[in-house]
Amino acid sequence: MANVKFYAGESFPLEMHKVRIIQKLNLIPVEERGKAIAAAGNNTFLLQNRDVFMDMLTDSGVNAMSDMQLASMMYADDSYAGSETFTRLEKSVKNFFGCKYFLPAHQGRACENILSQTFVKPKPGSVVPMNYHFTTAKALITVNGGVVEELIIDEGLKINSDHPFKGNMDIERLNAVVEQYGADNVAYVRMEAGTNLVGGQPFSLENYEQVSRICRAKKIPLVLDASLLADNLYFNKKREAQCKYMTLHQITLKFAELSDIIYFSARKLGFGRGGGICTNSDEIFLKLRELIPLYEGFLTYGGMSVREMEAIAVGLDETLDEDMISQGPIFIDYMVKELDKRGIPVITPPGGLGCHVDAGQFLEHIPQGQYPAGALGSSFFIASGIRGMERGTLSEQREPDGSEHFSHMELLRLALPRRVFTLSQVNYAIDRLVWLYENRRLVEGLRFVEEPKILRFFFGRLEPVSDWQTKLIAKFRKDFGDSL
Ligand code: F0G
Repeated sequence: MANVKFYAGESFPLEMHKVRIIQKLNLIPVEERGKAIAAAGNNTFLLQNRDVFMDMLTDSGVNAMSDMQLASMMYADDSYAGSETFTRLEKSVKNFFGCKYFLPAHQGRACENILSQTFVKPKPGSVVPMNYHFTTAKALITVNGGVVEELIIDEGLKINSDHPFKGNMDIERLNAVVEQYGADNVAYVRMEAGTNLVGGQPFSLENYEQVSRICRAKKIPLVLDASLLADNLYFNKKREAQCKYMTLHQITLKFAELSDIIYFSARKLGFGRGGGICTNSDEIFLKLRELIPLYEGFLTYGGMSVREMEAIAVGLDETLDEDMISQGPIFIDYMVKELDKRGIPVITPPGGLGCHVDAGQFLEHIPQGQYPAGALGSSFFIASGIRGMERGTLSEQREPDGSEHFSHMELLRLALPRRVFTLSQVNYAIDRLVWLYENRRLVEGLRFVEEPKILRFFFGRLEPVSDWQTKLIAKFRKDFGDSL
């Protein structure tokens, strides 16, 4: 992707790739969209993809692969042990991170499971300080009896800011938490690149250096969640003085050098479907290795198909190309700025992963206990056929006493899987969001009909608190006539 200057003077996102395989999409009428979201219990995870126009639920496992990735999948070496494919993937990962060991796993949360089981000790024991939690990372730490401490800088939790690195960790608070629990009780420190739940916000290399210095001094392992590293790297290069003249690979190697363990979901990093853990430590490698055959599969596949392993090997090499990793951030930058111009509350500065709409402000009349971000997800699907993902209170776990844990932010995440959508589709998303904003007073809250105990946002079913969806559909028809 490149931002090129048009003749009239403004800068415009220009794709540095062409489309050679396409998938047909359906845009069903608004009445059908209303029925589909009701059948899905107002949970966008439960929609059928055939009813969805733009799938902006996630970028996980749905980024567009390159011709070279697809070609590589054809010469995969299918064998349980010692496959040539694994050797190629291992070489690619080791080159990418400059690490000594690589352990394969079927996806990101599998790595989180293995790390939590190995390092987190039951209460009163381990604490895991992190810049910010990710749902599966937190669930797997707490299931193993650990406690999570979120130490993101205050600026990171503000919807609007001009801080270039809102994913940074608050260094003073890290020192205080280590002091409070004692270094022996800190299982590890976890830093998440492209901090997902606060709007895909990056941390700086400088901040990571400071965190690493403390971890080394206190002998606490530093774990980098590199799932969203590609976006983070782009922002390091663009926003951080010390990275300006470094190559993307040099920045990556620097992050790796400062880490004790790196894990990633290759559904994001590498544009395939899989994951893995890297380290330079013999001791850590031997500890983690035992759990791979137990949970994932033999050490030469770890639950991944050989075709995906080939694609990831190529995808990682391609990640070091700025034209490739800039596509997400540049489209997101365009979408966020266009929405911001029209007064729609969105997280700024634009981050990676997707555009994050602030449902707290958008639907300020809906109490947090009626899930404003969930209501925005449901109403936006009705308005557009686009599915986003609730990233607010619904995505939190209840407290042990059963009370709601209100999230810091009520967000609707509209992910932009890389190289998947065109700018006219992004413009359509913007238009329908603007319409919904004008009609926001018609939208009301949701309540649970069925609430699972763990990761409730995946399967939970909800209903509207009134007949507001019928009114919204009627207003859409009135305003758009027979347009879809
Ligand atoms: N870490 C981060 C930062 C993630 O964003 C994810 C997944 C994981 C770990 C877990 O990886 O899905 O391969 O098991 N994020 C997806 C999302 C699910 O939609 O943002 P996984």
